[in-house]
Amino acid sequence: MRLVLVGPPGAGKGTQAQFIASHFAIPKISTGDIFRANVSEGTELGVEARKYMDAGDLVPDEVTIGMVKDRLSQGDAQVGFLLDGFPRTVRQAEVLDELLAALLAVLDVVLELVVDDDEVVRRLSGRRTCHRCGHVWHLDFDPPTAESICDRCGGELFQRDDDREDTIRHRLEVYADQTSPLIGYYGELGLLRGVDATGPVEDVTERAINALRRFEA
Ligand code: AP5
Ligand code: MG
Repeated sequence: MRLVLVGPPGAGKGTQAQFIASHFAIPKISTGDIFRANVSEGTELGVEARKYMDAGDLVPDEVTIGMVKDRLSQGDAQVGFLLDGFPRTVRQAEVLDELLAALLAVLDVVLELVVDDDEVVRRLSGRRTCHRCGHVWHLDFDPPTAESICDRCGGELFQRDDDREDTIRHRLEVYADQTSPLIGYYGELGLLRGVDATGPVEDVTERAINALRRFEA
């Protein structure tokens, strides 16, 4: 299955991506995670990306597209993939179509996680991530026992630099301006399915998997 997850920041794309990808046995490719790994490692790509990420702006296409092209050409992505955070503009969606056409492949489905802005701000302002194992917690919805320690591995939890309230509001504007046109783009192609992404994580996963089952190869 070749699947794109779309939805505003904080919709739960990363949270759901791990369950959906493991259910359908496809690799999860998250551009945000790849950028953050590069930032931590201090690579040239990371230094460039960070300038935009901290402000809540999109990283320029010439950086992002090459990175995704490389990742999609790797062996594990040939059986299918789940893209989390890409495409994020209509231009990126057109490039994805071209990349897949070159591999004689097509996208099967685009799943939209639907939540409102107030819920997004609640989710992102309480998000904490483990430095060591990368697990994502929420101070209210999925709290660790101690506020700054990961229950899974004992690592230290941190708040993402782009999860401060003013940056969150800016990311929502960027989503509305640059990413939400994708909903119309994929709707016209007949590829879009929407699921209600509110309520317990397991319920959202169940709705998502039910919506995707018919696209399983
Ligand atoms: P990226 O990392 O993709 O950020 P985002 O789209 O803003 O999405 P988030 O990761 O913030 O949210 P999410 O939907 O994954 O939610 P999560 O599951 O963590 O991108 C970051 C930056 O990288 C961008 O701003 C840009 O600069 C750059 N970038 C990335 N891709 C790019 C591209 N293609 N082009 C250009 N630039 C690009 O959940 C959030 C919180 O809610 C967590 O704490 C979680 O525990 C909690 N939660 C999840 N589900 C539920 C639930 N059902 N109930 C209660 N709480 C829940
Ligand atoms: Mg994410």
